[in-house]
Amino acid sequence: MKQIFLVQIGIGGVGRELVEQVLSVRKALISRYAIELKYVGLADSSGVLRSPTGLSDDAIRAALAHKAAGGGLGELPEGEAGQAWQSALPSDQPVILIDLSAASGQETGFVEQIAAGSRVVLANKKPLSAAWADFVALTQHGATRYEATAGAGLPVISTLQALLDSGDSITKIEAAMSGTLGYLCSELEAGVALSTAVRAAHRMGYTEPDPRDDLSGADVARKALILARTCGLPWEMANIPAEPWFPAAMAEVSRNEFMDRLEELDAAFAARVAEAKEQGAALRYVATITPEGASVGLRMLPAEHPLASLRGADNLFSFTTARYAERPLVVRGPGAGQAVTAAGVLGDIVATAREWV
Ligand SMILES: NC(=O)c1ccc[n+]([C@@H]2O[C@H](COP(=O)([O-])OP(=O)(O)OC[C@H]3O[C@@H](n4cnc5c(N)ncnc54)[C@H](OP(=O)(O)O)[C@@H]3O)[C@@H](O)[C@H]2O)c1
Repeated sequence: MKQIFLVQIGIGGVGRELVEQVLSVRKALISRYAIELKYVGLADSSGVLRSPTGLSDDAIRAALAHKAAGGGLGELPEGEAGQAWQSALPSDQPVILIDLSAASGQETGFVEQIAAGSRVVLANKKPLSAAWADFVALTQHGATRYEATAGAGLPVISTLQALLDSGDSITKIEAAMSGTLGYLCSELEAGVALSTAVRAAHRMGYTEPDPRDDLSGADVARKALILARTCGLPWEMANIPAEPWFPAAMAEVSRNEFMDRLEELDAAFAARVAEAKEQGAALRYVATITPEGASVGLRMLPAEHPLASLRGADNLFSFTTARYAERPLVVRGPGAGQAVTAAGVLGDIVATAREWV
């Protein structure tokens, strides 16, 4: 039996779901692969909970309940307040480090742990969308897996890597990879004003607390950069300009003022919807990546385009390659949500653990 030690950073929505999934598949992994997954550390923004020999199920369940009730790990009796994830690493054993935070600036720490023999699994896009040199250091020799960063549980990165590994060459990737922006496009096409659609999405929790974090397009640009870099393109965020849904002047105001002024955007969006309708086209927020460059923005697509058939919050990734030249290879489905995101991360953890045995 091989024991694989896990240190998890981030015990939010996806983090708690992942812990539950790990606990529920543990026995099956022992019988299927003789691999035992063992949490030695959990970290949130308040501190860590750790045990170099493995946290007990009781301690893990108590931590989950405490987090679900809004508490911090640092407040638990066995928790260590103010400590960062590094303090949860065992001194003599490599681990799989799992980043389910949205924190920036972790890449150097991860690269150090990789050099010391650990592996990394990410749902957090930020370490892979920092400098190109960090992307290379994290991903060389397959030390980091990051399926969940692009399409949550959808097999996007693994599909792309399989195409590249088998000698195919990528001509174009086109993708709608924001559930929030997909929902807004569907509402616009149904004749709903943008202001009404954004307020509804905000109320239902489809958007970030400040909807501008979705509407800026930066999250889509970050995913596009990760796909481009996976293809070996040494780009930075500046190479992927994203078209925001609001003018620069509305970027500076408070969130409340932004929400109050949403009606200012309605007329321009209604005109774009009308123009698309007139041309029998669909309006989609699309990332396009080719070896020559990338763009992220609202596009009018002909009805027969694979992305035109998308409805609601689903994602779609279309890969045109030397082998899939006439009809692209398409991956489609729900591209967000805690359960599918955690499942994407768990798939990466198991694949990493199997390689280690
Ligand atoms: N939700 C989805 O559908 C989805 C899909 C794909 C990818 N993702 C990515 O998955 C990640 C997690 O998403 P989520 O929805 O679970 O977010 P979340 O609920 O906001 O949870 C984030 C967690 O990270 C912790 N954290 C923040 N900064 C930290 C730091 N410096 N050190 C340690 N822990 C830190 C937070 O601590 P506290 O609990 O103390 O605040 C919290 O536990 C994000 O990067 C997100 O972009 C999410």
